[in-house]
Amino acid sequence: MITLKTVRELRAAIAHARSEGKRIALVPTMGNLHAGHIALVEKARQRADFVVASIFVNPLQFGPAEDLDKYPRTLAADQEKLLEGGCNLLFAPGVEEMYPDGMQGQTRIAVPGVSEGLCGATRPGHFEGVATVVTKLFNIAQPDIALFGEKDFQQLAVIRTLVHDLNMPIQIFGEPTVRAADGLALSSRNGYLNDEQRGVAPALYRILCDTRTALLAGERDFAGLCARGREALQQAGFRSDYLEIREAASLRPANAEDRRLVVLGAAYLGNTRLIDNLSVDIA
Ligand code: PAJ
Repeated sequence: MITLKTVRELRAAIAHARSEGKRIALVPTMGNLHAGHIALVEKARQRADFVVASIFVNPLQFGPAEDLDKYPRTLAADQEKLLEGGCNLLFAPGVEEMYPDGMQGQTRIAVPGVSEGLCGATRPGHFEGVATVVTKLFNIAQPDIALFGEKDFQQLAVIRTLVHDLNMPIQIFGEPTVRAADGLALSSRNGYLNDEQRGVAPALYRILCDTRTALLAGERDFAGLCARGREALQQAGFRSDYLEIREAASLRPANAEDRRLVVLGAAYLGNTRLIDNLSVDIA
């Protein structure tokens, strides 16, 4: 696996792979890789001939009070994991390479609708930052396919919408959430948790599971269910941000006739914000 840091070198390497008739996959990440990220690389390996991963901690998607500075940077360990996962090329640009003219005047991509509410409400500008950097990465690498985790369900919806609305010739794959044995969704931010918080953390998944069980049993009082879920989060020791039931494809608030639902939750343990979600298909 080679690691490249400039757009020029990346374009040349991908042009070479393409000249050999290879199908290109892109797996964008911010590094500090865990088994969830590597599962994306392995899926990419199955679906394409040349797998490109990117590691870039994108300042544009962090709010002023968020964890940009302390976000874990673990390049050497990440390179080893990517190599084992079957990645062919790592693109790891610096901020100056991605934003050579600074971020102030940077063209931005807004995806209204799906970006609003849920994480968009708590993290203003976040999805604009994500959509902008993902568009840049797509334009730089020009992959045939790109893979994202369902763990960040709203992000995946934003990217699907972006690709559709801007006619990007890239097939998007959403992959299942990889979890620890106790159900906690793997996340780079889990590393911020102390032992006590780590003990509480799986309750987010359990509460989403309880909500799913109630939906599958026929419960349709969505507002009541969500209020109970938020209460359960508080009881477990979280500061609840949101717990909502949405229609899975559009992310609009669910109604009683919808058959494909998703329960999404976000909650704080200390300063650490965890998110998770579960899809619920009603027969
Ligand atoms: P990051 O948080 O590093 O995640 C990179 C990719 O890994 C995303 O598609 C995310 O959904 C996926 N992922 C994270 N945890 C996962 C898990 N437990 N199971 C399965 N997939 C998981 O998401 C970002 O980076 C950034 O916003 C990015 C898209 C790279 C744009 O900067």
